[in-house]
Amino acid sequence: MSEFVEFELDGKCVRLPIIEGTAGERAIDISTLRDQTGYITLDSGYGNTGSCESQITFIDGEKGILRYRGIPIEELAEKSSFVETAYLLMHGHLPTMIELTHFSKQLTENELIHEDMKYHFEGFPSNAHPMAILSSMINASGCFQPQVLAAHNRKTFDVQAARLLSQVRTIAAFAYRKSRGLPAIYPKPIYKYSANFLHMMFSEPYCDYELKPEVVRALDLIFLLHADHEQNCSTSTVRMVASSRASLFASTAAGVCALWGPLHGGANQAVLEMLEKIHEDGDDGSQFIVAAKDKKSKARLMGFGHRVYKNYDPRARIIKKRCDELLAALKIEDPLLDIARNLEEAALTDPYFIERKLYPNVDFYSGIIMRAIGIPVEMFTVIFAIGRMPGWIANYRETIEDRSGRIYRPRQVYQGEPLVHYVPISKRG
Ligand code: SDX
Repeated sequence: MSEFVEFELDGKCVRLPIIEGTAGERAIDISTLRDQTGYITLDSGYGNTGSCESQITFIDGEKGILRYRGIPIEELAEKSSFVETAYLLMHGHLPTMIELTHFSKQLTENELIHEDMKYHFEGFPSNAHPMAILSSMINASGCFQPQVLAAHNRKTFDVQAARLLSQVRTIAAFAYRKSRGLPAIYPKPIYKYSANFLHMMFSEPYCDYELKPEVVRALDLIFLLHADHEQNCSTSTVRMVASSRASLFASTAAGVCALWGPLHGGANQAVLEMLEKIHEDGDDGSQFIVAAKDKKSKARLMGFGHRVYKNYDPRARIIKKRCDELLAALKIEDPLLDIARNLEEAALTDPYFIERKLYPNVDFYSGIIMRAIGIPVEMFTVIFAIGRMPGWIANYRETIEDRSGRIYRPRQVYQGEPLVHYVPISKRG
């Protein structure tokens, strides 16, 4: 297959190299296009534009394939844990027993946040959205570790990355406790990652939360399934900020802000609010589906559709199965799950959704599991952010370690006023 594409533009022959990825994706490298032709490309929403070459995650949207460092998500969901998968994403290989033990020890050693950060929590109103607290406190925690600014050397980086991954969980739990006017519950070194988070969220000073194994496993799976997803909106934001050589904490705090939007990570909260509204309206979902297809209604079937997946999101399939298992194990009958199933069934047979290849995405069922665990809806996107942290860290490292890496600075097509001159205020209309 040709290694170049050639075409004529304004009477000139243009020749651009073709790059092929290890999974067979092909791209036209346009990095010399403007020098050769004076033209740039325009691609609103970047639906056709690759921002980088990456070795971290592979998605085939047509086939519904997702692999972390080449390993299918289905195998990791069944056999791995969030911490082991985090190591895989951040270091590029599955850890040996010694590496995993060392990494787990690093997470435990770094689970406490600086005691003075408590004063920052006091400054937030009790109704502050936990995503606002999370992004602020990630940046704040960087201030207590000035060495984090030396993230460009591998040794320092590994410690800072472990610290960030561990403390994002503590910050999130403290934010939840603060929002409920409850005392902060400190992490316990005897608990593993997800169990410690549940402990910090739901224990009381006078008694520890009862850690049910099926609940701990369900939350660990939710974190694992959210751990990375190639160049999505928030990960691209992390890479954009990292390209200016800002710190790991500044870049991931920016990622939290991008994830917050209801079209991205905020969708899991929007799905639950949608299901609750449908339930309150006494609708079984069929009326809502009509509204979701009507452009004038502004309603969207949240948790459905995806820029890349034009097939069932493999994560949604895994979460749906675990959702059924958890609710059965906890003996929970959730009417919202029935509505979700009705919506999925209706949408998967409706021409509007079929023509547009709209399938359930990762956010469609995840909220039902989190609700069954007792996580409040305003914390859903925070759970997504904790899960996505290893992916952001891995993409940050890949960006700063790219020797040929340049600052991300897209071009634009100007559509504003042609040249005009300053008019003194006395002469303005
Ligand atoms: C995540 O990128 C990632 O990888 C993200 C993520 C990750 O792990 O990081 O996977 C996590 O963000 C998942 C997506 C969560 N968002 C939602 O569930 C919100 C609802 N979904 C949509 O808003 C939408 O599907 C997006 C944002 C996910 C994708 O938007 P696109 O690719 O820009 O598609 P579009 O808005 O151009 O829609 C194409 C057509 C339009 O109709 P027409 O103009 O062609 O007639 O499909 C329609 C849209 O109106 N459409 C929907 C719809 N999603 C798209 N119609 C009703 N309900 C929906 N959910």
